[in-house]
Amino acid sequence: MSTYSLDQRTAHWTELKLQFNSIFEAAPTLYRAPGRVNLIGEHTDYNDGFVMPAAIDLSCCVAIAPRKDRQLVVHSVNFNETIEFSLNDGKMETTDHWSDYIRGVAWALEHAGHKLRGAEIAILSNIPIGAGLSSSAGIEVATAYALLEISGLQVERTELAKLCQKAENDYVGARCGIMDQFIACHAQAGHAIMLDCRSLNYRTLPLKSDVCLLISNTMVDHHLAGGEYNVRRAECEEGVRRLASVLPGIESLRDVSMAELDRHRDRLTDVLYRRCRHVVTENLRVTEATAALQRDDLNCFGHLMADSHRSLRDDYEVSCFELDVMVEIAVKQEGVYGSRMTGGGFGGCTISLVKEESIAHLQHAIAEAYEEKTGRRPEIYVCSAAEGVGIAKC
Ligand code: GLA
Repeated sequence: MSTYSLDQRTAHWTELKLQFNSIFEAAPTLYRAPGRVNLIGEHTDYNDGFVMPAAIDLSCCVAIAPRKDRQLVVHSVNFNETIEFSLNDGKMETTDHWSDYIRGVAWALEHAGHKLRGAEIAILSNIPIGAGLSSSAGIEVATAYALLEISGLQVERTELAKLCQKAENDYVGARCGIMDQFIACHAQAGHAIMLDCRSLNYRTLPLKSDVCLLISNTMVDHHLAGGEYNVRRAECEEGVRRLASVLPGIESLRDVSMAELDRHRDRLTDVLYRRCRHVVTENLRVTEATAALQRDDLNCFGHLMADSHRSLRDDYEVSCFELDVMVEIAVKQEGVYGSRMTGGGFGGCTISLVKEESIAHLQHAIAEAYEEKTGRRPEIYVCSAAEGVGIAKC
């Protein structure tokens, strides 16, 4: 179990600086980008829908110093490995390696016309990898931001998010939506955001200071399900194709109402109908959850989280035994408003909204019951909503 404190944050940065200095000679500047947790609105971003993420105080830190040439020399402290390449290489080959994220953002930035300087870089992330907390967006956004800063270039934050998403879609090869990169760029401390993934307009939503984000890691690696994510996307696209023959003008599931979906159910297989129903109802839940948060109705918010989890489990089929167990345990505890799986699914983490005063008791109760039922020891992170990418001040 862990609570991430300010002391640990500074220790993290100090460790990174030490590592940088042991390899390179120049004095570095430090930048950080956060991981994220999604409160509600899952698998809706790539359907032009609504999401409600918050950044968390686990982050990826990049120490960087410019070079005179166009070489990037990058050391990963997590993997204890250094790679080197030239920015003049143009489109580079993916290697199915952590460095693809670095090569990918360098490629996407250059491709968009941002001429970068070479640099020496060390990277240290404490966002757990493969846990659905967006360690990949963390490394992309922190690196892209750092590269732009040392090159004296300014890119607006939404554009930065889009370029990092492009790196992941077109270079790394994961067809993710915009949510993770967007929140890593735009997050505000103490707030979640409600993002319209079609217009990219968003609203900041203050979270009450006595409410905590309790993130429970099932310790089931969700990486293994990368293919299933792309299958779900393809199913949504197929649903839209079939519905468009009777609902001309629809571009995505965002444009379909529940009444329309039911009226044209015969156009879809049972599986496609359920996939579409998840997306259509999840969008409605995000809208209702926004209103609930605005009137401080956390009990209502909690019910919507429960409905979201059920829909992801039964209609979208992206949950797993361990996620279901974790949620079942959490919702039975005193002090929990609501709980659901968060992120892509098939493992990874759950998010529970909880009363601050119950934290100590909850951590123990959830961890013990989960281990007893699954034989796995969970990690539990108590997070507050953090700020988006920026310089790491230490
Ligand atoms: C992953 C993707 C996001 C989003 C979620 C599911 O985290 O990176 O774009 O699709 O899954 O909501």
